[in-house]
Amino acid sequence: MSLSSFEFIPLTEELELLPFRCKDEDLNNFLFDDAKHYLAELMAVTYLFIDPATQQTVAYFSLLNDKVSYDPEEHSFWNRLNRRISNRKRRRNYPSVKIGRLAVSQDYAEQGIGREILNFIKHAFTNGNRTGCRFITVDAYAEATAFYQKNGFDFFTKKDEREDTRLMYFDLKPFKDAQTLISSTE
Ligand SMILES: CC(C)(COP(=O)(O)OP(=O)(O)OC[C@H]1O[C@@H](n2cnc3c(N)ncnc32)[C@H](O)[C@@H]1OP(=O)(O)O)[C@@H](O)C(=O)NCCC(=O)NCCS
Repeated sequence: MSLSSFEFIPLTEELELLPFRCKDEDLNNFLFDDAKHYLAELMAVTYLFIDPATQQTVAYFSLLNDKVSYDPEEHSFWNRLNRRISNRKRRRNYPSVKIGRLAVSQDYAEQGIGREILNFIKHAFTNGNRTGCRFITVDAYAEATAFYQKNGFDFFTKKDEREDTRLMYFDLKPFKDAQTLISSTE
């Protein structure tokens, strides 16, 4: 199944939401109860994929600005992260975008949609950006960390190993370089 079969719709306050149900009740509630408030308060923007054939919401994700900041307790992690950045551009904070929520409907799960959505976000933030954005971050549910790892995300720290959610990141620069290389060889 491919995302291209579905309609991509940014949420508006007027939009009538089509049915959606994933495994996680909080994520179901967010879409119907909170997403429009976050939008109105300029706190997060939600995007939907709709199946015109079934009139269902296939998946949604919400995004907000973020930053990756130096943590003195994670000095060795920071050194590793900094090695990715060219010397003269090293900072104590790096611009990022956070995936606030991401959920795929139970009816469409385990068919590659989640992976395609992450790729969609990676492309969106490496092509024609209006602002600088080096990393994607996510507070991943413990049950979903393997999904993010399979998609190139890594952990920031071991400190949250036993928490319900773990902070993870994806570096967009190697992704962008790989895309540039692919398009130059086509
Ligand atoms: C997690 C979620 C977004 C994954 O979406 P999906 O469309 O089912 O995932 P995909 O089919 O694209 O899976 C891509 C790969 O990740 C793996 N994967 C997916 N969900 C996984 C999970 N929870 N744990 C481990 N691996 C997982 C798949 O097996 C697949 O692996 P493969 O490349 O070896 O085939 C979806 O299951 C979901 O909405 N879950 C409930 C809400 C949730 O946990 N959201 C994340 C909040 S941080």
